[in-house]
Amino acid sequence: MSGAIHGGALWQPCVRIPEDYASVVAADVNDAWYPPAPAVMKALARWARHSNHSPDTSGGALARAVAGHFAIPEPSVRIGAGASDLLHHFILSTIGPGDEMLTLSPSYAEYARVAKFAGARVKRLRLNVNDAFEANPGAILAAVGKNTRLISLCNPNNPTGQVLNRPQMLEVMQALPKRTFLLVDEAYIDFAPEESVLADAPLFPNIAVVRTFSKAYAMAGLRVGFAVLGSSARKRFDRNARPPWPVSLLGLHAAEAALADSDYVARRVAETLRLKADLLRNLRAPSLPSATHYFLLDLQTTEITANRLDCLRSRNIFLRDFAGFTAGSGKRLSQRFVRITTQSRPANRRIAQEINRIISS
Ligand SMILES: Cc1ncc(COP(=O)(O)O)c(C=O)c1O
Repeated sequence: MSGAIHGGALWQPCVRIPEDYASVVAADVNDAWYPPAPAVMKALARWARHSNHSPDTSGGALARAVAGHFAIPEPSVRIGAGASDLLHHFILSTIGPGDEMLTLSPSYAEYARVAKFAGARVKRLRLNVNDAFEANPGAILAAVGKNTRLISLCNPNNPTGQVLNRPQMLEVMQALPKRTFLLVDEAYIDFAPEESVLADAPLFPNIAVVRTFSKAYAMAGLRVGFAVLGSSARKRFDRNARPPWPVSLLGLHAAEAALADSDYVARRVAETLRLKADLLRNLRAPSLPSATHYFLLDLQTTEITANRLDCLRSRNIFLRDFAGFTAGSGKRLSQRFVRITTQSRPANRRIAQEINRIISS
């Protein structure tokens, strides 16, 4: 498997026309397996023919809808082209040469990549495989040094699916030194909504929480996200220029429609977690506990290592290799785990059949 930091191998070379998706199992990306809500499809159909017009550059209507939906003061909300856009901007606004950014390992690799572009040093708090890569607030706070200007936490964590609960995250937020910003990436929090600190963020000056419509809202192709920022974090965010019109006309209207029909997301999340439970039962290898729709399959008790599953690509089944998440953790760990994202029932059947066949061969 490649050491790429993102999935999406299906684009090379399988999907050229929409019908091609039917033959591909894209379990290497954490996109939703289901389509966007009917209300979103309706909004897209309604607005598509107006694509000759520029969108509202401030994304004001969507910011108001986000504020209303999550009971957050509107001035704390910023709109962007997915969580990627917002977290890039925030990291580049908060750290520079001489600063340190603390992140976890394994975790989403993008934070470290951007921090390096900012000229900052990256410190990784190594999570222990024997604790199923569980993080804890005490260890995070103990790893904060005098040069730590930013902590980037993915919650739930990608690729482990482990979640710091809300009291644990609040513990970190309350003990944060004045000089340190905290970025909480809640890209997958719709799978554990009770653990979100989104509504708490405006009460803490140095906090930025980013959310996305790409995952549980099933809109990854539309590129819409938002951030909720405390007062100092907001000043930092606004200090650097942003390109105008970060989100397309279709993206803005689709996201507003999605928020208005968020029951759809709750139903799909519940359905997906049931599908995940079935898939876990059908796989002949254990996996680590996960709060999300993806999980780490643990091959340690089998006769195979992760690279034996590379051949599934030729059957259009794409799984995510672990190496891209574990800078510095060594080859042994990266060959022990593979990340799988829950798909539709038939696709899950294919995944289980093919993996079990290889494990038993
Ligand atoms: C933890 C995490 N944050 C952010 C993103 C990017 O999300 P978006 O599509 O909103 O840019 C991803 C995508 O895989 C992710 O895994």
